[in-house]
Amino acid sequence: MSKETILTGVRANEEPTLGNYLGAFVPMVQMQKKYAGEYQINMFVPDLHSFTTPIDHSALYANTLKNLKYFIAAGLDARDENTFIYRQSFIPAHSELTWILDCFTSFGEMSRMTQFKEKSAEHSSNVSVGLFNYPVLMAADILLYNARYVPVGEDQFQHLEITRDIATRMNNKFGELFTVPDSTAKQTEFIKRDKGLRIRSLTNPNKKMSKSSDDQKSKINLNDTPEQARKKIMSATTDSLGVINFDWENQPGITNLLQLLAILTDRPQEEVNAEWIGQTQYGPLKKAVAEAVASFLSNFQARLDAITDDDLLKVLERSERAMTIVANETLLRVQKAVGLRR
Ligand code: TYM
Repeated sequence: MSKETILTGVRANEEPTLGNYLGAFVPMVQMQKKYAGEYQINMFVPDLHSFTTPIDHSALYANTLKNLKYFIAAGLDARDENTFIYRQSFIPAHSELTWILDCFTSFGEMSRMTQFKEKSAEHSSNVSVGLFNYPVLMAADILLYNARYVPVGEDQFQHLEITRDIATRMNNKFGELFTVPDSTAKQTEFIKRDKGLRIRSLTNPNKKMSKSSDDQKSKINLNDTPEQARKKIMSATTDSLGVINFDWENQPGITNLLQLLAILTDRPQEEVNAEWIGQTQYGPLKKAVAEAVASFLSNFQARLDAITDDDLLKVLERSERAMTIVANETLLRVQKAVGLRR
C-alpha cells in the first residue's frame, strides 16, 4: 500500500451521541472530502471493543450495521475506491496482533490509562480484563493498516500515545515493523483544530457527553426525535452567573452551548461568540441551539432512512476482503519478526 492511511473507529455499544458525531464522524467526512485520492480512508466499527463493559448482546450485530450506516449518513462516500468501511471482528488479524502486542506492553503503562481508571470505578463490581486491555486492541486496529492519522476526540489521546509507544518500542527491537501514527499535536494540526474536541454532558458540563451514560438527559442520541433533543437542550445545566461568556473553566455549560451552535451552524466560534457574549438571558441561546440540533437531526435521520441493508452489505464485503489482505500482510511481518513464521 503506497498511500498513507487515515483511520478511525466508533464503538457500537450504545446509540452514538452528538459528541461522537462531531468528534469522530464529521472530521472523518471532512478529511475524505479534502484528501480523497491522496490518502486511504479507513472507518470501522470496533465491535470487539463493544463489550469491555456489559451490553445487551442480542442487539450488538444490528447496532454494528446501524453504526456503519451512520458513517454514510454523515456524508462518507462509501463508493470511493480509497475508502474502506468494515467490522473489526470480521478481520481476525486484529485479535491476533493484540496478543502479540500485549507481550510487549507493560502492566505499569496500562495501569496509567485514565479511561480504564474512570470506567473501572464506574463498573467496580464487574471490571473485565478486556476493559484493561482495551488500548492494546486499539493499537492493533491502528498499526495493522499503517495509519498515520487517527482523528479521535480528546478522550482517546492517551490511547493514541500508547499506540505510538508500543509501535516505537517494537520498531526499535525488530526494525521497521509499523508506521508510527503522528503525535496528537500533529493530528489536531492536520485536522485543523487547535485541540481535541470535547462536547460536554448537558447535565454535568464538567464531563464529556458520553454514550454509555445512563442519564438520558445528559446526551443527544442520534436517534432522538428532534422534539426530544430540543427539550434536552432547553433543560441543559448552565450556571447562575447570569451573563454569557465563552469560559470553559467557570461557565462550561454555556460554553458547551456556544460551541455546539458554532459547529452545527458551520460558523467560526469567534463569530458566534461575538453575537452572544455579554447577553444576560440564557433562554434565547438555548433556543437557538435547540433549533440547530433539531434541524441537524431531522436532516441526518432522513439521510439514514435512505440507506438499505443491501447497499451496506455490498460495501462491507468489498472492504472487508481488501482490508483482510492488508491486515494479514502486517500480521505476517510481525509473526516473522517475533519468530512465529519464517
Ligand atoms: P468511542 O466509540 O467511545 O467514541 C468514538 C469517537 O467519538 C469521540 N467522542 C467524542 N468526541 C467529542 N466529544 C465527546 N463528548 C465525545 N465522546 C466520544 C471519541 O474520542 C472517539 O473518537 N476507543 C475508541 C474506538 C476505537 C478506535 C480504534 C478509534 C477502537 N479502535 C482505533 C480510533 C482508532 C472509542 O472508544 O471510541
